[in-house]
Amino acid sequence: MRAALLIVLGLAIGILGTVFTMRALSERNPFPEALMVTMGFHRHQLQQAVKGQHCDATANLDQLQHMQMIAADIPAAFPDAPQPFKDLSGKLHSALQTAAQSAPADCPALAAALKPVDQTCHECHQQYR
Ligand code: HEC
Repeated sequence: MRAALLIVLGLAIGILGTVFTMRALSERNPFPEALMVTMGFHRHQLQQAVKGQHCDATANLDQLQHMQMIAADIPAAFPDAPQPFKDLSGKLHSALQTAAQSAPADCPALAAALKPVDQTCHECHQQYR
């Protein structure tokens, strides 16, 4: 009898815990993740271009400019982040600016322009993701 009661109590606590966890998760601000998913989308588009050997100058520039604008939003999406994080988002912004200004017109140029950009993504993810 006592064991059965404990099992029921355990289940009830478990269910309550799940409800609270789900609530906490759904209340989590979706903006930071959404921003990164969008950043990943544009990076993926460029990856597909290189993979398919179809690197059009206008399309390349368009993607890079999108990423640059998204990078400018990182500090607003992560307002509580420490200063080194903000520095890295600034570094990403200037890496993307340099990449966009180089206006890569073919796949090798695009791949080269993306190298310092990817490095910055990686640098921040390693520490903060
Ligand atoms: C200044 C730090 C920083 C930089 C720079 C950065 N990221 Fe992120 N990224 C994060 C953090 C923090 C997360 C985890 C966000 C979360 O889950 O709330 C993340 C998560 C992601 C995710 C996973 C999103 C998901 O949950 O599905 C992708 C994709 C991503 N970043 C792409 C990129 C790309 C591409 C770049 C470079 C062009 C980049 N990020 C640069 C901090 C950064």
